[in-house]
Amino acid sequence: MSLEPTIETDRLLDELQQLAAISDCPEPPPAVTRVVFTETDLKARAYLQGLYEDAGLTVRVDPIGNTFARWCPPSADADAPAVGTGSHCDAIPHAGMYDGTVGVLGGLEAIRALQREGFEPKRPIEVVMFTSEEPTRFGIGCSGSRAIAGVLSPEDLVKLTDDDGDDFDTVRQRAGFTGDLADVKLAEDHYHAWTELHIEQGPKLEKQNMPIGIVMGIAAPATFVFHVTGEGGHAGGVLMPERKDALCAAAEAIHSIEQFARSSPSPDLVATVGELDVFPGAVNSIPSKVRFTLDLRDTDADNRDQIAQAIHEDCNEMGLRRGVTITSETLNADPPAACDKAVIDAIEKACNDADLRWWKMVSRAYHDSLFMARLAPTGMIFIPCRDGVSHRPDEFSSPNEISAGVEVLALTLAELASS
Ligand code: GLV
Ligand code: MN
Ligand code: MN
Ligand code: MN
Repeated sequence: MSLEPTIETDRLLDELQQLAAISDCPEPPPAVTRVVFTETDLKARAYLQGLYEDAGLTVRVDPIGNTFARWCPPSADADAPAVGTGSHCDAIPHAGMYDGTVGVLGGLEAIRALQREGFEPKRPIEVVMFTSEEPTRFGIGCSGSRAIAGVLSPEDLVKLTDDDGDDFDTVRQRAGFTGDLADVKLAEDHYHAWTELHIEQGPKLEKQNMPIGIVMGIAAPATFVFHVTGEGGHAGGVLMPERKDALCAAAEAIHSIEQFARSSPSPDLVATVGELDVFPGAVNSIPSKVRFTLDLRDTDADNRDQIAQAIHEDCNEMGLRRGVTITSETLNADPPAACDKAVIDAIEKACNDADLRWWKMVSRAYHDSLFMARLAPTGMIFIPCRDGVSHRPDEFSSPNEISAGVEVLALTLAELASS
């Protein structure tokens, strides 16, 4: 039977908009801020839960809030490994309304489309909303999927702290998520296959006028925190030769990080310093302490590690020269993920069946699929986003682009759940 799922695009867009309205951003939607374990995050979760229940899905929430909504009609073997899809609904400060949400609400709509078609899966199909794909609160991205895949142990989880010094365990319990952290890791055979629908967050698909990207692999991300300690003092009293200004040292470090990235042998290496805290932060006080973060990624993990090493050596040399100390911690340095041939083939077949052109590409952003790939054969479906913009309020994918992505997702889920 050839399947022609119809996507209820207006309804899906309405749901995306309703979710976008659940936000802590001072600006109105489409600007969105939704940080894990806040009241706003809980409201978004409640909204989604209602939609899952309306679709007849069975909801399970794990001890850290990862939410699994399962469709298991009589045709499906309830004990068989499921076909999984999903993404995240947390949003960094001042983000847009499509990052992650298209994969969660799109996953739900793909299941509803299959239900409307009368499709009979042989195994359960599950849509997942991961806790905290974004690193905003706890410094590390994908904490939910890392824990599911066993990459972050319960001992690692409880060591994570937020800016208020509250640890992950306390914060999740305060938000109402209880239970044993050891129960978060899923069994190796929980999923038969995994696929995530996401906006590209880059310009390639739009430039190629391609409706669908089939992801072949996900670039390797690493995050470091640097602490620079110099000597504070009076902005008028301390003459320049005597200064050990921590911010000037940080500025030099940031400039050389940019130079290292620009001269990298791999064109895919990108370096971003996105947070800078200056102490004491007064107009007439020499900065004595600075904290800054470094986000470093490459499709070539060896090159990323070599550049990280060179940056650290350069900082040490510069610290000695300026008389400041520079220390750093590695929050994460993950290997890249390769997508699975059978899932890639299923997505390709889905595109062909839907009569949509596709293009094979790498994901430069990381996603929960980076960690789901450790647990299950994994693939990702990308759709274009305007001007490649993401992590900004003007992030946008058109209704047609979203609808095409959900159609491909539905056909892919059907293919993967047919045997
Ligand atoms: C996640 O949003 C990332 O930074 O790739
Ligand atoms: Mn994001
Ligand atoms: Mn995302
Ligand atoms: Mn992401």
